[in-house]
Amino acid sequence: MKEKIEKILAEVKSFHADSKEALEQFRIQYLSKKGTITELFTEFKQVAPEMRKEMGMRLNELKNTIQDIIDEQQKQFETTNEAKTDLDLTLPVDAMKGSRHPLSIVRSEIEDIFKRLGFVVAEGPEVEDDYHVFAALNFPPDHPARDMQDTFFISKEPSENKPTDVLLRTHTSSVQVRAMETNKMPIRIIAPGRVFRNEAISARAHCIFHQIEGLYIDKNVSFADLKQTLYHFVQEYFGEGTKVRFRPSYFPFTETSAEMDISCNICGGTGCNICKHTGWVEIMGCGICDPNILKASNIDPEEYTGYAFGMGVERIAMLKYQINDLRMFFENDLRFLEQFENA
Ligand code: PHE
Repeated sequence: MKEKIEKILAEVKSFHADSKEALEQFRIQYLSKKGTITELFTEFKQVAPEMRKEMGMRLNELKNTIQDIIDEQQKQFETTNEAKTDLDLTLPVDAMKGSRHPLSIVRSEIEDIFKRLGFVVAEGPEVEDDYHVFAALNFPPDHPARDMQDTFFISKEPSENKPTDVLLRTHTSSVQVRAMETNKMPIRIIAPGRVFRNEAISARAHCIFHQIEGLYIDKNVSFADLKQTLYHFVQEYFGEGTKVRFRPSYFPFTETSAEMDISCNICGGTGCNICKHTGWVEIMGCGICDPNILKASNIDPEEYTGYAFGMGVERIAMLKYQINDLRMFFENDLRFLEQFENA
C-alpha cells in the first residue's frame, strides 16, 4: 500500500489541467465516492494494526495534496475566465485617454502651414558638432555663443582649422547646414526640433526649448519672397489683419538679417503687459542666406540665393494661448495639460 500511495503522489504532483473540464475529471478520478482515495480507504481496513498509524497519515497527506492541487489550479481558471469576460479586445476604443502637449499642437499647426507652401520637414541630430552648429554658419572661433555659459559641451577635442567639439545644438540652424550638404536644389525645408542652452530657468527662459527653422534656396529667391512667406504664415496662424514689421538685426549666417515682430495679438496693438506697451511682439529671426554660407556647401551663390528663418515654439505657444510662464510647458501639471484636450 505504501508503494501505491507513493506512485499516486508522484502522478498527481505532475498533473496539470489544461481546462476546467480536465480538472473536474481529475477530481472525480481521485476524490469522488468511487474514486482512488475512497478505494484506498477501503483497502486501509486490511492494513496490519502496527502499520495503521503510518499508513493513515500517508493516506490523509495524499488526500490533502490532491485537494490542494485542485484548489490551486481552480484559481487559475477563475482569474483567466474573469479577464476573458471583462475584457473584449475587439471593442472599438470610445475615447482616447490623455491629450497632446501644447507644444506638439503648435509645432504641427506651424508645420502644416509651411507644408501647404511646399516645404518638407527635415530633421537633424540633437547631439551635434561644432562644425554644423557654429563653424559652417560663420560663427567666428571666439563667438560668445560657443562659450561654456551658452553651450552644453559633451566633449572638446579642438583641432586647428576644423573644431570637432561634440555639443548639444543651441539652435535648429544646424539642420540648414545638413540640408545644404545634400546639395539637391531647390531646398525648401522646415526643421522643428529641441535645442539646448545653458541658461538659468525662469518664466521667460529654459535650458531646453524648441525651435522651427525654415530654409529656402532656389534661383531668384529674394527678401520680398521671405517677407511674403512670413506674412502669409502670420495671417494663417494669428489671424487675418495681424500686422508684421521687420527690424534690422544681425546673425552670422544671414545678410541681410532681420527680426520680425507681429502686432500684439493680446491687446490688438494698443499696448499691454505682454508687449510691454509697445503694441508689438518679436516672434522670429530671419534673413537672406549669406553667400559665403552657400559657397561653403558648394552651392554657387551666383546661381542660387536663399532665405532662412527661425522661431521659438514656446514663444509662439505663449502668445497663442496667453501663457505667461514658460516653465509650465515642462512641469507636466495635469491641470495645465488637460486644458488642451480639445485643441
Ligand atoms: N538660429 C537663430 C537663433 O537661434 C534664428 C535664426 C534662424 C535667424 C534662421 C536667422 C535665420 O536665434
